[in-house]
Amino acid sequence: MSARCLPFDDDGVAEAARLIRAGEPVALPSETVYGLAADATDARAVAAIYAAKGRPSFNPLIVHVADRAMAETIADFSAEARRLADAFWPGPLTLVLPRRSDGPVCDLVAAGLSTIAIRMPSHPAMLAVIRASGRPLAAPSANRSGAISPTRAQHVLVSLGDRIALVLDAGPTVAGIESTIVAPGASGIRILRPGPVTAAQLEALSGLTVVGAVTGTEAGAGGGIESPGQLASHYCPDKPVRLAAERAEADEYLIGFGAMAADFNLSPAGDLVEAAAHLFAALHEADASPARAIAVAAIPHEGIGIAINDRLARAAVR
Ligand code: TXA
Ligand code: MG
Repeated sequence: MSARCLPFDDDGVAEAARLIRAGEPVALPSETVYGLAADATDARAVAAIYAAKGRPSFNPLIVHVADRAMAETIADFSAEARRLADAFWPGPLTLVLPRRSDGPVCDLVAAGLSTIAIRMPSHPAMLAVIRASGRPLAAPSANRSGAISPTRAQHVLVSLGDRIALVLDAGPTVAGIESTIVAPGASGIRILRPGPVTAAQLEALSGLTVVGAVTGTEAGAGGGIESPGQLASHYCPDKPVRLAAERAEADEYLIGFGAMAADFNLSPAGDLVEAAAHLFAALHEADASPARAIAVAAIPHEGIGIAINDRLARAAVR
């Protein structure tokens, strides 16, 4: 199979929705990374996602919905969950909630868990395909399991082009790293995966308390993470990665941050949001370069920098 790449327009959406209803996975842009999406109600379609990615079957998937009504058929929303959805949906926040036993999502999506990870994305392309197909979409990042997440259609074609039928191209994604995953509870919000929505934003916009947020290094070492996908070595370039580098050693590709000379500077102005948007593109470039190894400048461990350092710590584990 060789993937077609269609632009995000009415024809592209119609073709993506046709393939989804036929049980085939298609790669779609979201505001975070490109996702490999399939009908979450169809176990064979979901199995095709795992097969294309080469993903271990114990790793559950996020379900993407177009509205709250669809979400509430799938999961039980507590008062805390409703406040988070009110504040952050549509957007890059995934809620882990009790799964409704009478819900439409097939068991394989949750990989045997009684909870379900669910989010309403803000990207018009993914929303349009959910609406056109009329199905909630299970969608992990559209890369082979363990490889770098795709922020451009070209990244998807390189990683999965021979395994899927279609990529819908809407240009580079804006957030650049995967959604923040949280489990809301009566005693507060637990962050299972740091992401574009920061702990400070969660508290400020929901009025709830964040308890036990993970830091990048804890996540890298697997310190009590409940998201089964949070394996220590996950976002893995083929080359060794050295962190907190001040300059490139011989044969290294330097990914910089702030005012410094580099092969790829994540944000010359030192803006963490811009750096997050460019992170995976930089890792892709570095991996494709002739350099033997990758060096990455220190990233401030604050705000979305915590999510960037989480991904970098994983990239550096071999
Ligand atoms: O931004 C994103 O979240 C992207 C786009 C495509 O939406 N998707 C994404 O999916 O990053 P994926 O499959 O690469 O990561 C899903 C994460 C995994 O770490 C998985 O273990 C966790 O969500 N997860 C899924 N269901 C869960 C559950 N019931 N409880 C805890 N963690 C769960
Ligand atoms: Mg992934």
